Amino acid sequence: MKSYVDSHCHILPGIDDGAKDETVSLDIASKLVSLGFGTVIATPHYYNHREPVEEFVSRRNEAFSRVNFPEELKVLLAAEVSIEEGMSKKSDLTKLVIPGTDRILVEFPMKKYSPRLAEEIFDIKVRHGLTPVVAHFERYDDLFTNEDYSDILSLDGLIYQVNLFSLAKMGSRKFFRNLYNAGVEIITGTDAHKTDFRITDSEKGMKKLEKLVECDDYERILRCEALGLH
Ligand SMILES: [Fe+2]
Repeated sequence: MKSYVDSHCHILPGIDDGAKDETVSLDIASKLVSLGFGTVIATPHYYNHREPVEEFVSRRNEAFSRVNFPEELKVLLAAEVSIEEGMSKKSDLTKLVIPGTDRILVEFPMKKYSPRLAEEIFDIKVRHGLTPVVAHFERYDDLFTNEDYSDILSLDGLIYQVNLFSLAKMGSRKFFRNLYNAGVEIITGTDAHKTDFRITDSEKGMKKLEKLVECDDYERILRCEALGLH
């Protein structure tokens, strides 16, 4: 049985900078199945300053309805929520959670670290009772200092998502090892936007992951058990 969960994927067609059409969506889907994924969480980008949550949700659902996904791949509809100042006060954030959970995928913008944005993440947790999942936590290595990373890690009860393709790179593996040794909750995802290196390197990353963690943890991380889907 295909049991792995891709927690972060731009698989829906024509909604963001991910799959440009239904053919690409199906191509990503078949690659995921061949890698052992049975579930994919579709996470199109959501930007608070661009559109209301309601509009985003209806665009997302419409994009999903256009694709006839293979039966062996379960598709869950969520979002990758870009953190902006003040957004923790939005009452409808709960509409963007991973279905059946209180988890919400959030991303820091690709800028220098801002403690205000970390506070927003923490406020999402406190105000809405949600568990933020920090997307591609390894990606800010050039922008965040060790102290910045420690600041985020000191926020209690977050989940950290790491991109599988990045584990094909030595620098990211070092980062991952430290994160793993810190004993925090880690899940993985492909963050695929099309069928390019992010998919092929995800396969390489899975092989590297096997060597980086205990056998039980390998399965736990690839099944994204911290999401509580099972
Ligand atoms: Fe993404």
